[in-house]
Amino acid sequence: MKQLDIFDILDNAAPDGGTSTADAAVTGHTEDTTSDASAAAERAQLLSLRRELEEHNYNYYVLSTPTISDREFDEKMHLLESLEARHPELADPDSPTQHVGSDLQVSDGFAQLAHRRPMLSLQNTYSEADIRQWYDRVIKDLGIGAGADSLPEIVCELKYDGLSISLWYEDGKLTHALTRGDGTRGDDVLNNILTIRNIPRRVEVPAGESSTFEIRGEVLLPWASFERINREREAQEEPLFANPRNAASGTLKQLDPRIVAQRGLDAYLYYYLSDKTPAPTHSGCLDYARRLGFHISDAIRVCRSIDEIMDFIAYWDTRRRELPVATDGIVLKVNDLSLQQQLGYTAKTPRWAIAYKFPAEKQQTLLRSISYQVGRTGVVTPVANLEPVQLSGTTVSRATLHNEDFIRQLGIREGDMVWVEKGGEIIPKITGKVDDNETSPRADFCFISHCPECGAELIRDPEEAAWRCPNEQGCPPQQKGKIEHFVSRKAMNIDGIGEETIDLFFERGMVHDIADLYSLTTEQIMQLPGFKQKSAQNIVDGISRSTQVPWERVLFAIGIRYVGETTAKKIARRFTDIDALRSARKEELMTIDDVGEQVAQSIISYFEKPQNIDIIRRLQEAGVQLAGAEAPQQLSAALDGKNIVISGVFRHHSRDEYKQMIELHGGKNTSSISKKTSFVLAGENMGPQKLEKAQALGIDIIDEDRFLAMIETKE
Ligand code: IVH
Repeated sequence: MKQLDIFDILDNAAPDGGTSTADAAVTGHTEDTTSDASAAAERAQLLSLRRELEEHNYNYYVLSTPTISDREFDEKMHLLESLEARHPELADPDSPTQHVGSDLQVSDGFAQLAHRRPMLSLQNTYSEADIRQWYDRVIKDLGIGAGADSLPEIVCELKYDGLSISLWYEDGKLTHALTRGDGTRGDDVLNNILTIRNIPRRVEVPAGESSTFEIRGEVLLPWASFERINREREAQEEPLFANPRNAASGTLKQLDPRIVAQRGLDAYLYYYLSDKTPAPTHSGCLDYARRLGFHISDAIRVCRSIDEIMDFIAYWDTRRRELPVATDGIVLKVNDLSLQQQLGYTAKTPRWAIAYKFPAEKQQTLLRSISYQVGRTGVVTPVANLEPVQLSGTTVSRATLHNEDFIRQLGIREGDMVWVEKGGEIIPKITGKVDDNETSPRADFCFISHCPECGAELIRDPEEAAWRCPNEQGCPPQQKGKIEHFVSRKAMNIDGIGEETIDLFFERGMVHDIADLYSLTTEQIMQLPGFKQKSAQNIVDGISRSTQVPWERVLFAIGIRYVGETTAKKIARRFTDIDALRSARKEELMTIDDVGEQVAQSIISYFEKPQNIDIIRRLQEAGVQLAGAEAPQQLSAALDGKNIVISGVFRHHSRDEYKQMIELHGGKNTSSISKKTSFVLAGENMGPQKLEKAQALGIDIIDEDRFLAMIETKE
């Protein structure tokens, strides 16, 4: 069968259902040449690919956690496109081939608005040959004859790997900022976009130019911020963002702009749109936008030949590593706007532009051995020790193998040749085994049975993929990890004690557990390499200051499994000292929001261990706060018996503050609207589904001011 090329695909996706020669060649191969059985198999594959691609779209756009590479996605999409071309009887306007992926947050938080012009995607290509084909096709479609003197100019730009955003300016003022959403409608994330410093809130437009226009670009999280956030998340044992794109997308979907502001997003703009453009070319429009004060990259070149395009690609394939933000390719655009118009669009992409994706760096190497790392919580992670290879400019000699199941799925063993890729450009990962002829016999893979650090027998909870060392108190990495967690910023916030210092304390037998920190002296610390009187004194002072840290944070700091920051707060509010918590029954614990069977059992098990009781006694002696203020009294009965749903973005208080107020005045905060809901406390941009449901059930919607008046605590 004829191999489909990208132009077949462009044609197939054409809104008019284009019947070019290429289409005919493909659709010519239908049932009459294919046996019934294989046609049925193809149809089944087509339907299953649709479901699979929808799921990948969801993982990528909504969850911000893609599970396959862009290239694998594109390959599957091409396969689906070719199957659809062979089975026109299964045509479906909802197929993933017919619409761009969607990141709409239909659930909550943001208002959705229709795009003034659809926000499309770009066709991806991976080779010089693809680019040549595209360029030839552009020339052909424009009716430019072979050997013509002037070929159309192509603008080359970097392809920024973030989230596309559409900024609307009305009378020079930024009024809306829409995500791509499903290409037709997007979420208005203006409040979050306003935290990005290089996006002007207002622009002065020269006389004669339009002050109402749209400008599109990419929101990104610079590498430096991305790495900082992941370091913080790692310290808190929160899942890490795989790459800056996912981190940016997670950030932009935050409902609280204060969190967004802390993350430090950046924006690069690359597409000016208005009814009246200020220049006849794309590059002219970008120059104009730059003059208005928009952040437009300087890495733009107007090319007049394929060679110039390839030069640009070769240059940036290497130099992009020096950029402060992630890029994943080059975008090629026909420069002349009237030619763009002439070329037009398919259902999903413009014909006047195309993306060239940089090759994912992939290398073969030898899996020398598998070693095992024990983390703070006792989870044992297998790590691949590799024959060092060069990938994206760095040497890779280790990669995580996650857990036993991952290794079994890949079917790899020590001594195998494996593929290593830079997943999302940063974290190297093993993506498979290189097919070989299995000449030398190798031992079957077997996960270790005992902890490499302390020798305890490992256990695996059937519900979890991880093997765990149960020796919490006597296994060094777990002991050190507990101390690292205890001193961390969100816990006791003791400055000056990092991983290395804890290692030293440990090696010298100065500290075995968190309570030992409180008996350290300046003299002792000064004995350690690299410490002087002042630095040693700072540590002791920091430890001493930590005795003022409130009970709820101490409860988080002592590291009871599953008791994270928020859960600790809720527990501490209910059990105002450690003795009360220690004598709580499981059922009592489970009445607290967020505390289920697993958390409750973990708390009970914690207090059953004599070593923990001893640590608590010593913390108490050191003056650490193991009791808090009395649980806040109910302030009024204004909301007694009321079930209240909160939705939208608020001006006077945060959502958490409103939740607290509801409780303090006798109400109950619930998450979804039902017949039992008394009213919805709505901020700006209330989720449309919630709005619709509330209206359908005739439930009152109350704004912030009215709510504050109800409880009479307006500030
Ligand atoms: S132009 C009609 N230029 O890549 C399409 N897109 O894979 C106009 N992107 O959705 C897009 N850098 O989010 C354009 N210099 C650039 C870009 C760029 C990144 C993103 C954009 C688009 C996606 C397609």
